[in-house]
Amino acid sequence: MAIERVLSGMRPTGNLHLGHYNGVLKNWIKLQHEHECLFFVADWHALTTHYDTPEIIEESVWEMVIDWLAAGVDPASATIFIQSRVPEHAELHTLLSMITPLSWLERVPTYKDQQEKLASKDLSTYGFLGYPLLQSADILIYKATQVPVGEDQIPHIEFTREIARRFNHIYGKEKGFEEKAEAAIKKLGNKRGSLYEEMRVAYQQSGDEESLESARAMIEEQQGMSIGDKERLLGYLEGGGKMILLEPDYKLTPASKMPGLDGQKMSKSYNNTISLREDVDSVAKKIKTMPTDPARVRRTDPGDPAKCPVWQLHQIYSNQATQDWVQTSCKSAAIGCIECKGPVIEGVLAELKPIQERAAQYAEDPTLVKNIVAEGCEKARKLARETMRDVRDVMGLNYY
Ligand code: TRP
Ligand code: SF4
Repeated sequence: MAIERVLSGMRPTGNLHLGHYNGVLKNWIKLQHEHECLFFVADWHALTTHYDTPEIIEESVWEMVIDWLAAGVDPASATIFIQSRVPEHAELHTLLSMITPLSWLERVPTYKDQQEKLASKDLSTYGFLGYPLLQSADILIYKATQVPVGEDQIPHIEFTREIARRFNHIYGKEKGFEEKAEAAIKKLGNKRGSLYEEMRVAYQQSGDEESLESARAMIEEQQGMSIGDKERLLGYLEGGGKMILLEPDYKLTPASKMPGLDGQKMSKSYNNTISLREDVDSVAKKIKTMPTDPARVRRTDPGDPAKCPVWQLHQIYSNQATQDWVQTSCKSAAIGCIECKGPVIEGVLAELKPIQERAAQYAEDPTLVKNIVAEGCEKARKLARETMRDVRDVMGLNYY
């Protein structure tokens, strides 16, 4: 099987919370042991919507990297970097913009959705319209094969595939590819040359796999032909040339089961989060003030865990014995809600403790964090430069 290269980015627009941890981050941490992984801070993406609050971005960039590291993203397994520190992303974005139809950008669903959702902001900007193309550049510059994203991002990956296909269609061949391939056919000699042509036509016009196979075998066996010419003939058979950009697949991040304090999905926009840096008192206070089954007006009223957001947290943080205890004692009004919340508070604190301890260590050593990022940027840049060399070449921009 082909080697996978995984790439994903996150916008630095505020504190990470338990929803991020139980969704995206745990997934990244698992992937980093299975594949080559690149994870980056999408600071330019954040600017497309937060251009008027750059201070939030500046602060969030480092805090976010610390949260990643504290959660267990391991710089020895994954490359961690910042988008704006690899300026090649911007160069590829500009070059891809030359071949991007405006209508493709206008019909990406997040364009209108986000403009409506963030109505207080003026998002009728060039940068915001180009958001998906910048994301395409992020992905294509590393020839990523897998992009773990949430459901809302799938249209962006599909858009990226279309851009890669369009690019390869227009530029995906070395200069003068057809002429060079035709010249190579001549080198096969009259008889083999026309046989090749026949088989090429049979494959391309009627999809005859057998012709493809025989033509391939003939080329492989051809004596005294350069590797370059053999590659041209093989590529020409299938109507291709040298592939420059790779169409990525998306990898849907398993939906986070993490409920927020009100029973809805945990999300900053619902104001129902517990942040990864939340201190002990604040965690306790937030959980103690969580709403419960509205039927339990008095302590003596029996309740139903199925109607209570606290029960959802028990399902994540409590063992079977505790869950059984909640079920029976809630329904029989044997316990009060504050007592019931005790094990949830303990469970959340136990999950946060090691994360917060590691975060404190990183926060105390900014040089370490900056070095990790500097090294990641350097690695990423090396890969990005290689792709840009090919891209510039086929777009007529290699003046040495
Ligand atoms: N658009 C993504 C989001 O809002 C962030 C992002 C930017 C991204 N570039 C990316 C994700 C490239 C995956 C790959 O969450
Ligand atoms: Fe919810 Fe527990 Fe109160 Fe029942 S006892 S309503 S499960 S908090």
